[in-house]
Amino acid sequence: SSQWRGVIEEYRDRLPVTEDTPVVTLREGGTPLVPAAELSERTGCEVYLKVEGANPTGSFKDRGMTMAISRAKEEGAQAVICASTGNTSASAAAYAVRAGMVCAVLVPQGKIALGKMGQALVHGARILQVEGNFDDCLTLARGLAEKYPVALVNSVNPVRIEGQKTAAFEIVDMLGNAPDLHVLPVGNAGNITAYWRGYREYAADGTASRTPRMWGYQASGAAPIVRGEPVKDPTTVATAIRIGNPASWESAERARDESGGRIDAVTDRQILAAYRLLAAREGVFVEPASAASVAGLLKAAEAGEVDPGQRIVCTVTGNGLKDPDWAVAGAPQPVTVPVDADAAAERLGLA
Ligand code: F0G
Repeated sequence: SSQWRGVIEEYRDRLPVTEDTPVVTLREGGTPLVPAAELSERTGCEVYLKVEGANPTGSFKDRGMTMAISRAKEEGAQAVICASTGNTSASAAAYAVRAGMVCAVLVPQGKIALGKMGQALVHGARILQVEGNFDDCLTLARGLAEKYPVALVNSVNPVRIEGQKTAAFEIVDMLGNAPDLHVLPVGNAGNITAYWRGYREYAADGTASRTPRMWGYQASGAAPIVRGEPVKDPTTVATAIRIGNPASWESAERARDESGGRIDAVTDRQILAAYRLLAAREGVFVEPASAASVAGLLKAAEAGEVDPGQRIVCTVTGNGLKDPDWAVAGAPQPVTVPVDADAAAERLGLA
């Protein structure tokens, strides 16, 4: 009888809902905070992974989507729309089903992972592939929501950020205090904004005695905040964070500056190395964008910029099953054997 109830019921007094808000939930949140032995060894710190791929649709987006769809339903919306690199649309599509709403999604043509496309399709979303990148999709979605009766559920919708801040609450609730350092990938910059809000709220009322430094990592081919100007044609293997003009740019900079943190870039090579290390050494399969946090931590550690003895949390934002191409590519092909124990044992190196 003590099943996790989803982020709205678990943190109701800290979220903008009333008793009249219809709660649309898939029991998101309550995700594992997993000690990371290899990363701890490499940094001399106590490193944890906040495994957001364990959410119902496989990414952290569900935390914000339960809020956005619940509030849209309360306001009588019959249709929602979002721009997405794939995870927001997967989440919106699933929650819209539960709310009995129509869901429209705008995705950059040819640039979303197959698993994410499959999610939107199987949940019955109306999908438009836009001849442009994510930034173009968001511009289009905003324009449509302004002119037509459809609610925008991107993180420019402030209740999304409210829902996503619960991840910071869970971390403090588990550890007993905020970590020294929190590391996460940055795309449209909603999540770093949300975590910083969550940590600050807990510190403001004394639930935590401190806030962490916030370190955000963009992909080097899609690093507008690091460069200080929008990137017109962002490129990275981490399609989830292939974004050239983040909507929450300023609040990401505030999170960085107020926390004494940093926003830096990691190369696709560093992202894929961290992606493989997480799977091969920690047993955690994430999608490439998620590995940007870990790639950033390792880059900083190798440069001697991570003081030992700290407590560090890295958010890994999405499940590896969404985008398995990178797991298969470059890996040795499985060998084929007959139904024969000796032959199988030989190929396994047991005989
Ligand atoms: N990691 C994953 C797996 C994501 O899907 C995203 C964003 C991010 C990190 C970056 O988070 O945008 O809050 O800075 N995905 C959005 C989407 C853009 O449409 O699914 P952010």
